[in-house]
This record gives sequence, structure tokens and C-alpha cells, in this order.
Amino acid sequence: MFTLEGKTAIVTGSGRGIGKGIAEMLASLGANMAITDIDEQISQKTADLIRSQGFKAISVPGDVTQLADVKRVVKKTAEEFGSVDILVNNAGIMGLQSFTDITLDEWNRMLQVHLTGSFLFSQETIPYMKQNNGGKIINIASNWGQRGEAGSVHYSAVKAGIIGFTKALAREMAPHGILVNAVAPGPIETDMIEEEARHLHTTADQIRSNLTSKIPLQRLGTVRDVAVSIAFLAGETGNFYCGQVLSPNGGEVMM
Ligand SMILES: NC(=O)c1ccc[n+]([C@@H]2O[C@H](COP(=O)([O-])OP(=O)(O)OC[C@H]3O[C@@H](n4cnc5c(N)ncnc54)[C@H](O)[C@@H]3O)[C@@H](O)[C@H]2O)c1
Repeated sequence: MFTLEGKTAIVTGSGRGIGKGIAEMLASLGANMAITDIDEQISQKTADLIRSQGFKAISVPGDVTQLADVKRVVKKTAEEFGSVDILVNNAGIMGLQSFTDITLDEWNRMLQVHLTGSFLFSQETIPYMKQNNGGKIINIASNWGQRGEAGSVHYSAVKAGIIGFTKALAREMAPHGILVNAVAPGPIETDMIEEEARHLHTTADQIRSNLTSKIPLQRLGTVRDVAVSIAFLAGETGNFYCGQVLSPNGGEVMM
């Protein structure tokens, strides 16, 4: 239906989980991929995997909260592939605590990884997109940012912030042909489920069943469910989308 041949994409937090699935999907559509993650080993592993599938990928590890790292990732990507056309701000951390237990450090880290990370990567890539008279920025929000989740106020707040960031940046960048949109997934089957289970001293199956009970389609989402939404926005199919929030969530939130 469309190709990303000749386009270069950066996906943050693409060492594992949803980001890795997005990177594999965009690579399979022809994009040159820059894999970046705070964890150098998994960043390299994803890049190796994509190359072994016959597609183009480099690993440029870095912390999305550190300006020097972000500058290095974007510069290395542009040097390697010529420019940057697509940015997916995906890197994230989870937080499950009662509101009164959230420390100031945890609150600040949540803001830094999700909001500051998206701010820095967008600022550093936009000049390349302006030079190309266009580009795509896709920010990963969450259904919890749309409806709010008890026991995750800091995460819900930053994900709602990502939606505001997306809409404001979309208006400012539209005259430059840079289309900014968000994808707000519902609960997705990733390593986060096992981590949540350990954190809450329960089983992964218990978590799955609690989450599924709120979803009209009666299943968790897959990484592929999210990756195809990103591909849709990144490709020609997304060329009339500006400041929108796509919500692959099985019907949990209906807007
Ligand atoms: N899993 C879900 O159910 C779900 C639902 C809605 C939204 N999301 C969002 O999707 C995105 C990906 O989530 P996931 O489930 O794949 O999580 P994950 O923990 O499996 O992957 C997140 C990746 O981000 C990386 N990362 C964390 N902090 C970083 C930093 N400072 N700099 C660079 N990389 C960093 C991690 O190393 C990891 O590889 C996140 O933004 C998350 O909030 C997830």
C-alpha cells in the first residue's frame, strides 16, 4: 500500500517491547532504522536482528533525558543515512504506586523520560525535517493518559501531557509539513506485565485477567497492534493526520 523506502526513522526505546516491534515494522517497509535505547546491549541486539532480516539498521544507544546523548544519536543517524524523516518518541518507564507513595525523584524521572525525552528528540530532529520540507513525529501516549488510572497518577499525568504536547507541536509544525500525531495504546502484552506482577506481588495471569476484564474486545493488545498504527501514520496513509490520537485499545477508551 505504501513504502518507507529512502526514509530514515529513529525509534527511541527500541531495544525491546513495543519500540522494537515498531522498528522491525518500519524497517520491513523499507525505512533506514536508527535503534536507540538506554540499554546498549538490547539496542545492539535489535539492530542486529533487523539487519539479519535483510534491512538497514544502526544502533546508537543513549538516554533520552540527556541532551548530549540525544544530539549524538540524531547526528550519528543523519551522518549514516543522510537525514531524519520519522521520529517515534516511544521510550518509557512504568510506575505503579499509591499517589502518596510517589517520591519527588520518581515524579521527576517520570516527567523527564516521557516529556523531556520527547521534547529533546523533537527539537533535535525538527531542523532536519524542515530542511526536507516535511517529516513525521509520532509520540507514544497511553489510554491511561486519556482516562487516568488509580495507582499510576504520575504515569497518567505524563501521558496526558504527551497528548497536549502532540497537539500544540502539531499546530506549530503544520506550516513546515511536519505532521505530529500520537498513538495511545491500551494494555499491551509485553515484559511490563511480568514486571508489574513482580512489583505488585501477584501473578502475570492475574494482571492479564484484571486488564482484559475492562476491554470490550476481551484481549490484551499485541506489539503488532501498535506497530501497524505507527506504520499507518508514518506512511502515505498518515498524510492528512495532524494532532490526532490513534487509540489501539480494544475499545477500553472510546473518544
Ligand atoms: N506495555 C503497555 O501496555 C503500554 C501501554 C500503553 C503505552 N505504553 C507505552 O509504550 C512505550 C513502550 O512501552 P513497552 O511496553 O514497550 O515498555 P518496555 O519497558 O518493554 O520498553 C521501554 C524501552 O524504553 C527504554 N528506556 C527507558 N528509559 C529510557 C531512557 N531514559 N532513555 C532511552 N531509553 C529508555 C527501556 O530500556 C526499554 O527498552 C512506553 O512509552 C509506554 O509507556 C505501553
